[in-house]
Amino acid sequence: MPLISATDAWKNLTEMRDQISGVPLSDLFDADHARASNLAIDLGGLYVDFSRQRVSSEVLIALAALAEAADAPGFIQKMAKGETVNLSEDRAALHMQVRSTSAAGPDDDRLKGFVDGVRTGGTVSASGAPFTSVLAIGIGGSELGPALILDALGDTHESGPEVRMCANIDGTAFRRATDDLDPETTLVVVISKSFRTMETQANAERAATWMQTAVGDDWAKNFCAVSANVEEAGKFGIAEDRVFAMLEGVGGRYSLWSAVGLPVALAFGWEVFAALRTGAAEMDAHALSAAVRENAPMMLALLTVWNASFMGYQAEACVPYDTRLGKLVDHLQQLEMESNGKRVTQEGYPVDYATQPAVFGGIGLNAQHAFFQQLHQGTTAVPVDILIPARAPTGDEAQHDLLISSALAQADALAFGRENIEAPHRHYPGGRPSTVIVYDALTPKMLGKLIALYEHKTACAGAIWGINPFDQWGVELGKQLSDSILPMLSDVDNAPASLTPLIQAVNRMRRGDE
Ligand code: F6P
Repeated sequence: MPLISATDAWKNLTEMRDQISGVPLSDLFDADHARASNLAIDLGGLYVDFSRQRVSSEVLIALAALAEAADAPGFIQKMAKGETVNLSEDRAALHMQVRSTSAAGPDDDRLKGFVDGVRTGGTVSASGAPFTSVLAIGIGGSELGPALILDALGDTHESGPEVRMCANIDGTAFRRATDDLDPETTLVVVISKSFRTMETQANAERAATWMQTAVGDDWAKNFCAVSANVEEAGKFGIAEDRVFAMLEGVGGRYSLWSAVGLPVALAFGWEVFAALRTGAAEMDAHALSAAVRENAPMMLALLTVWNASFMGYQAEACVPYDTRLGKLVDHLQQLEMESNGKRVTQEGYPVDYATQPAVFGGIGLNAQHAFFQQLHQGTTAVPVDILIPARAPTGDEAQHDLLISSALAQADALAFGRENIEAPHRHYPGGRPSTVIVYDALTPKMLGKLIALYEHKTACAGAIWGINPFDQWGVELGKQLSDSILPMLSDVDNAPASLTPLIQAVNRMRRGDE
């Protein structure tokens, strides 16, 4: 398939970019008094307003034509049908199937039985006592999704066993995660699709030693695993009936809905986990059935493509005005940047346009007092997603009014600015794009829907750019180099010139020579 940039749809947008670049957003609102409601999608309980994006109705029509030219809707249909959409790994992308309510298979029943057993005390630890805590070990997609959910629902849903997560191998992460935990009543969940990830292996071994010291030879009775590599999990010493399989076709960053969600199910119960999946499945139904212009994830994808590939924005920010979504940015960084941070197409041709922008963000209002100065007046502008919970999470309506008005004020200030010729430092240029997303109560179902919204946005953007949103070859080189550098730490003579001074400096400091 030729590059998407060779199509008339792309060339048409390039011309439109030149026409619209200098048009103030206020002019676009003046030209269409219904713009705020016209450029929005209302999904009932989830409202997406993209009227502050730098697009005219003509640009929107052209963007829809681009989605069709790339057959992005067809790509989502292929995903749903389980067709091969990940060419470099010759795989399907099966996360939709995993959360489809009709697809709950036998392993799902086994997983549910295990969750219920641990939560009710029927499944006991090596010492015969019920499990009171869970230590979940995993990294990347095997950590970020569950960590987001645990944090988001922790205020409103009582946890059965206390669940802690551990990803890094810096030692501090493990110490903090196990601080005050009694190994005798802790269930260790090792989550790794490959069961080969160095960080997870190192932490799993550390946890096994920690457990052995406490319970002796029966340490594995306090372990279970989630993996697509069931054999390797078995070799580690985990009993077959304690290994929960995940499909090869479910990518790590899309895997929350599979057995990777075990920490969530253990914390809040199967019903909550099922509700998350239901919410995501509802978003799947929308993504698969809505026309491009009414399709929330497709429109978010098209706007990212417009902003990155045509308007030249190199970053995008996500700012949820909701402390419960504090870990959403971490999750989106992996989801979007690992998926679409690519420079060749599925067929291996180099692209001649910008793809995934860098993703960063933080919780509103904290973020307003951190990086918003640059968003308003910096020389590089950044499109922002502003997420607003309609309801006050703690029932404090007056304080919630302050939060909502602040969020809306940011959207308008970024879009329309304020002129001040006499005092340039008080001049706000405006014209800075944002999308405002308002959601009803942050139930498990809504959370599932929101995450799936961004999953589909990511897949649609990848499809439009013609790249593969499901592989991650970019992270492999670093892993290989790390393996070859390891022996050089004790044999610096064999290190390359680029590394010798650094290794020597590390060694001097480790020896305490300086
Ligand atoms: O960062 C690379 C990556 O392969 C991610 O895609 C994945 O989520 C993470 O490492 C962890 O991999 P695994 O689940 O195989 O341990």
